[in-house]
Order: sequence, then structure tokens, then C-alpha cells
Amino acid sequence: MLFAAPPVTNSQIEAKVSALLGRMTLEEKVGQLVQYSSSEELTGPLLGKNPTLAELKAGRVGSLLNVVGAKATRNLQEIAVKESRLGVPLLFGLDVIHGFRTIFPINLGQAASWDLVAIEGSERIAATEASAAGIHWTFAPMVDIARDPRWGRIAEGAGEDPFLGSAIAKARVRGFQGNLDQPSNILACVKHFAAYGAAQAGRDYWTTEVPEITLRDVYLPPFKAAVDAGAVTLMSAFNDLNGIPCTANGFLMDQILRKEWGFKGFVVSDWGSIIEMVSHGNAADDREAAILSYRAGVDMDMEGRAYLKYLPDLIRKGVLKPERLDEAVKAILTAKARLGLFEDPYRYCDEAREKQAQLRPEHLDAARNLATKSCVLLKNEGALPLRAGQRIALVGPLSDARHDMLGSWEARGLPAETRTLKAALEQVAPGKVQFAEGCSIEGRQRDGFTKALEIAQEADVIVAALGESREHSGEGHTRSSLGLPGIQQELLEALHRTGKPVVLVLFSGRPLVLENVLPACEALLLGWLPGTMAGPALADLLTGVANPSGKLPVTFPRNVGQIPIFYAHKPSGRPQPEGVVREQYKSNYLDVANTPMFPFGFGLSYTRFAYKNAGLDAPEISMGGRVGISVSLVNQGDRDGEEVVQLYVRDRVGSVTRPVRELKGFQKVFLRKGEAKTLRFELSAADLAFSHADMSFKPEAGSFDVFLGGDSRAPKVGEFILRAN
Ligand code: BGC
Repeated sequence: MLFAAPPVTNSQIEAKVSALLGRMTLEEKVGQLVQYSSSEELTGPLLGKNPTLAELKAGRVGSLLNVVGAKATRNLQEIAVKESRLGVPLLFGLDVIHGFRTIFPINLGQAASWDLVAIEGSERIAATEASAAGIHWTFAPMVDIARDPRWGRIAEGAGEDPFLGSAIAKARVRGFQGNLDQPSNILACVKHFAAYGAAQAGRDYWTTEVPEITLRDVYLPPFKAAVDAGAVTLMSAFNDLNGIPCTANGFLMDQILRKEWGFKGFVVSDWGSIIEMVSHGNAADDREAAILSYRAGVDMDMEGRAYLKYLPDLIRKGVLKPERLDEAVKAILTAKARLGLFEDPYRYCDEAREKQAQLRPEHLDAARNLATKSCVLLKNEGALPLRAGQRIALVGPLSDARHDMLGSWEARGLPAETRTLKAALEQVAPGKVQFAEGCSIEGRQRDGFTKALEIAQEADVIVAALGESREHSGEGHTRSSLGLPGIQQELLEALHRTGKPVVLVLFSGRPLVLENVLPACEALLLGWLPGTMAGPALADLLTGVANPSGKLPVTFPRNVGQIPIFYAHKPSGRPQPEGVVREQYKSNYLDVANTPMFPFGFGLSYTRFAYKNAGLDAPEISMGGRVGISVSLVNQGDRDGEEVVQLYVRDRVGSVTRPVRELKGFQKVFLRKGEAKTLRFELSAADLAFSHADMSFKPEAGSFDVFLGGDSRAPKVGEFILRAN
């Protein structure tokens, strides 16, 4: 097999690292803190010259990003190892965000699967492919909680909820890193620390102001979960958090991460985020920015060039402490040692392995499976599944959009290797599919409508493939309106007016506003941006070979004015009673309901699930106790299917006000038609803990309501009391 034995034991690693550190000059130590990007593949603005080979030879570079391929990485590694004084190997990093060559659905879509096994498996595959191409380290998982769909980077995370986000964060770290004992394991980098997703008005790189309690209870849990799962590295975020940019935020990196959580790995800045402190206005110049970041706990300077330029002098002059440098270098060398790079610096640079590891049939199967599980059926008035023999008019600019299917961050995914909906439908319904693009994603040309309407007239059903391109979401891609881009809404309405049933397959990197879209279709299947195997997964779902099982990991607003809207909101002193028209002096809008278009956790199926005999096994528990909650889930429809059973809790009274409900458990369950299964959940007092005004994290005695069902509007199934003793 490919795999060598684990490199060395922890104590051997420590001894090796200490010995090496003892031999390093100040410049060589600082060199380990320096990371440059290849200038051929930039993932941010170019900030200076590329490192010269002389710098590699002088040991002035610790890591490179965006250099990919067994051969390219080997060439540079040879220079670092053979031609520098101490031969310290380089660490090669890349954004492997939702696949390397085999591209899985965007991360938000994956989260909609609620399938931790499939998600972990996707990262295992991503790591297998990337590691074979010389990559040691991915800048993932991105675990930023996001409650504002205008923010384009919502596509990269797991949505709005800390409980689901934490479970997924752990699964991803396990998938990438394994036990870090195989050359197919890569280091994870949890990002962006922290609260980057709380950007005001959804604008990327923008200010965040988050109260400490909300930071601790909403934004930080997925980071903590990833650290507990063994993540070796973290990335500091671009944003200004409560007045202190994250890259200079000692409260985050020193107090919380290292002191409270005991993190022993290293922190890399985001791209140039050290020197961006000058723009933020908390440093006068790059030198001061370097001082602030170094003191606050950033170990590696990505692309900023400030550490290399200023740290040696600052340390020599006694402005900065040398011990801090030793800690940072130790953590970076330890990561290299854990990957086995001191034993074999070329462990990840094997061209034969590189070739055979990519796009393997089992990788494609896994991508198809996860894409199938990620799609969410939002509406179905009977048009789905399609019936055999139906003549299909496939219309829309995303029907055959190979590149768009890959989403933002495509690593080494290739449009040419992407299977589209058009190709897949033509394969499963030969001779029955007619295709017309109708219009482009963003253009305003209506010329294509005529052909689209013609083929619609001749068909039994219209499948409209509409939505966002890959460029509508991702880094630096914020939108202020969330309808269908361009004139796609007009096309959809024209198709609807033909009177033929319209099945909308919606592609997007975020929740969209669907108030005008829903009335113009009979069925709506949300595909997100599904990756390499988009087409086969969607065709399986449309034709009923597979049954939709995805559930929204984020709330869909009715309009942009409702944002931010999320299920775990606080109650208010003047809540609007449910199901009643707007009341004066209550918390509501003049012009729209408080409820979302689709709630968190929502998703339809081709079968029907019933929840029976739900109940709790105890009316009260002590602080050390647990309460069991059980329910019988029955598949009452005529198809096999999967349901995501969700458990929510409301803490009725808290010294700090509590959300109206919080997700505390979920299980994704497969049931054959007619089958029933009893499911059991358990809650302990610790599961009910929250941050208090004095920042202690503990549960409070009192009464709790329990809700169980298929989305965040699940009915109450019982209550219990948590006793103080
Ligand atoms: C992004 C990070 C990414 C880095 C390196 C930055 O612009 O914010 O998420 O890992 O670039 O590509």
C-alpha cells in the first residue's frame, strides 16, 4: 500500500524539534514564520515580490501556498532541504475547501445533508487527492457561523447553527487529519478566527461587533469543537472584532484559544491580514502591525512580509520577546515533524501516487452520494418525481454549466470533468429531452426565450435550471438583492404561463429570496452548487431513483429586509403571538410576517414520516443526571427515504435570556416504506450550559421544553425540570 508507518513518537518529535531550535539563528527562526503564495495562482491581492530561490536557500521561508503538484513541490522542497543550512522542509498549503480534483457540493450544501459520515468521508477523499499532489495542509474547515445570506462566504460554512456547525467542524477535521500517521492525512486549518461571518450588512472584510456572550455561545463553539478534535492550525480572520482586528486580538488567540482551550498548534494570519492592520487603523505602519500580531499570538505571516522584515530587529532590540518566537517556531516545526517531513521531506511528492489518487471511481461515487444528500426539496405539488416517458423541456443557463457546478474554491477540479444536469437527463431519458438555454445567468438578452417557449409547448414537463453562478458567492462576493440574477425571473414566469408544470432546479451558494419564484413553479429542488457529480445526483432525485433528504442548515428569508433571520432568536419582551395578524406594540413588521419563507431544518421528501409516542423518560433530572427522549419514527409513504430527526430545547427562564429554541441533537435515519424505528436521544445538564454575565459557562436550574420533529418548528413533546442539586 501507499502508507508508511507513523513517523515518530511525541517525545521523539519534541527532542528533534528542541535540538533543531537550538541550532537555528534568529533569521532562520523568523524564516519559519514566513509564508508566500505562488505568484501563478493568487488567492488574494499581490502584496510584493515572489520569494527568490536565494531566500529559500537562506532558510527565510517556512511555508508556501498555492504551489501544487508532486513535481513542483518536490523541486522546491529539494532546494529547501538540500541547499539551506539546516535543511528544514517546507510546508505546502492550499485551499482544499470542498474537494481537490473530485469536487463535492459547496460546504453549505454539504451541511444540508446533516450526514456526518458522508461529510467526513468527503474530506478523507479530498485529503487523499491533495496529499498525493504535494499538499500538506488545507486552509479548511471554514467554520464561521453565518446568519446573513448577503455574505458570499456563507457558501463555505455550515450555516447558522452552532450545534450543527460544531458537529460538522469535528467531522471535517477528522476527515482531513485522520491520526496524522499516513501520508494521505493533511493538516487542517480552522478558520476564520473569529466571528468573520458576523460582518455588518453582509459585506465581506467588514466590521463585526459581537457581544462576548454571543461570541462564546454562537460563533466560537465550532472552533472549540475543531480544536478538541485535534486541529493543528487556525487562521486569524480579516475582520475587526469589537474594535480589535482578529489578527491582533490577544483576547481571542491568547486568552481563549491558548489559555482556555489549551491549543498547542499554530495560528496563521489570513492573506496579508497583518499589514491590513494599517488600513484598519490600529497600527501606524507595517512594523507596528507586526508587533501587534506577534504579541497577540499570530505565528505565521501569510503573504504579509512584515514578520520577515521587522521581527529580527525588533527581537534583537528587545522590543519583542524571543520566547514567543521559540514557541511559534516550535509549533510550526512540530507540525512538520508530525507529518513525517523530517524523515522523508518528499513523502507527499510521489508522481505515480499523484496520478492514481485522483478522481477514482469510489471518489466519484462518494461525490454523487453527498450531492444527492445535499439537495433540498422545498416545494412539490406533485410534479416530482418525473414520470417515465414524459417529454422534458430542459431550460435555463445552469442546465449545462460545467464550471458553475464547482462553486467557489475549486482546487484542481476541472469543468471538463463535471457532469451536468443536461448530460445526465439525456442519459436517463434518451430522446425525451429538448434543451434551450433561454437566457444567460446575468445578461438581459431575451432572444433565447422564443426557443425555450417553443420546446416548453411540446413537452409534458419543464425542468428549469436557474439560479446563481459560481461567482455570485464565495470570498468578496456579497449581494444586496437575493432574487434570481439577470432576467431569469422573467424567463421562469414565461415558462409558467405556458401552463405546463415547471420543476425548478435552483442553484445557489446561499439562501435566496423566493417570494416571486415559488408561485411560478410546481416543484422546487434546491441543488446548491453540487460539484463534479451534479448531473447524476440531480437526475436521480428528479426521476425518483433517489429520494430527497436534505434539510436547510440556514433560514430562508421572505425578503432582504428580514435579515438577519435565524431560528434561535431571543424571545423579546413584546413577542408577536403566532398565527395572529399584526398586533400594535408587538415585535413585528408592517409589511411582512415575522416567519421565514423556509425555516432552518426544513426539507421535503417523496415519502411521509410520522412521529409517534414521543416522550421523556423522567420529569426531572439533577445536575449530574440525564434525561432520555424517545420517539417512534414511521415511514408512512410508499417509498424508502431518509429523515433528519431534530431535537430542540427551550430553557424557559435564564439569568441571561435564552433563545426560543436551540438544536441539541439530530439523527439522520433511513427507513424502508412502511418501516418504523424507535429513536432515542439523551440530554445531560452539561448540554444545557450557556455563558453567564460573569462569563462562566454552566447550566441553570429550571424548566425546559423539548421539541422533536423534522424542522425547527417541531412540536413540543414534553418538558423537564433541572434541579439545582
Ligand atoms: C481567504 C482565506 C484563504 C486564503 C488563502 C484568503 O483571502 O480569506 O480563506 O485560506 O486567502 O488562499
